[in-house]
Amino acid sequence: MTRRFLDLADAGAAGIRLMLDEAVSRKKARAGLPKGTPDRDAPLAGHTLAMIFEKNSTRTRVSFDMAMRQLGGTTIVMDSGGMQLGRGETIADTAHVLSRYVDAIMIRTDDHQKAVDLAKHADVPVINGLTDRSHPCQIMADLQTVLEHKGRVDGLGWAWLGDGNNVLHSIVEAGSLLGFPVRIGCPDGYDPDPAVLADARARGGEILLSRDPVEAVRGADIVVTDTWISMGQAHAEAKLAAMMPYQVDAAKMALAASDAAFLHCLPAHRGEEVVDAVIDGPQSLIWDEAENRLHAQKAVLLWCLGKLG
Ligand code: CP
Ligand code: NVA
Repeated sequence: MTRRFLDLADAGAAGIRLMLDEAVSRKKARAGLPKGTPDRDAPLAGHTLAMIFEKNSTRTRVSFDMAMRQLGGTTIVMDSGGMQLGRGETIADTAHVLSRYVDAIMIRTDDHQKAVDLAKHADVPVINGLTDRSHPCQIMADLQTVLEHKGRVDGLGWAWLGDGNNVLHSIVEAGSLLGFPVRIGCPDGYDPDPAVLADARARGGEILLSRDPVEAVRGADIVVTDTWISMGQAHAEAKLAAMMPYQVDAAKMALAASDAAFLHCLPAHRGEEVVDAVIDGPQSLIWDEAENRLHAQKAVLLWCLGKLG
């Protein structure tokens, strides 16, 4: 059956662990090589990934492109505005056509259902490069970063402060699959999707949703936040004001575990969701986290194409 990676649950706990191990070991094995040099085994030689972007991207675009190069394959990168998709060709027809040309498709879209429909009609793996609902590739990179710095992912407590958005949804999903608690500090009116929380809790996920940022962050091993205004959302002063008590600053980091790590998927809005002293401080792992998009996605590509597991 054709694999898909629309959400972390598509791979399950075993698949995620396999991919994380692969990402860590493949990263080590190519240390010191120029970034554009393929891995010695070039496992995706002859394979092409098409990427569809309906929204802006720096990390996802470049890391997937370099991931395919390092795996020995190639990419075709398209902005939807330049495709017939952008002027009304259906996602189903797009899926059928691209499946005849390429070996896998990555999509970044505002509408999660579009990614689901693309996967439904494609004969090749479809990867979610961010939707309004989730960002599983980002969380694979976050998990790899935690694994590398903490030696494990299980059992560490994560605290999320801020907007109940797509990135949080994937963290909640990861926690329920891999067995780590997630404590969310979020203002009224900006909660994560209750269906995502319900799915995670049904899987045994330990999730706290609090209006109190102190309760959320106290004792946390991992502190994470993201922009208060995601792509496609209107800039709203009322939202920024509601979020301000949840800003990650030195005082909140001091409430977390003494060796707590700070994560942010980037791009950051310094002075909003996080202050410079934290994001540029000694507990911040953001550059490793950004680098690991590359390594984690290589493992996702290998898993999707049946080269792993
Ligand atoms: N974190 C992330 O997905 O970054 P980009 O929007 O730059 O791809
Ligand atoms: N929540 C953000 C993540 C950007 C990588 C957004 O959707 O814009």
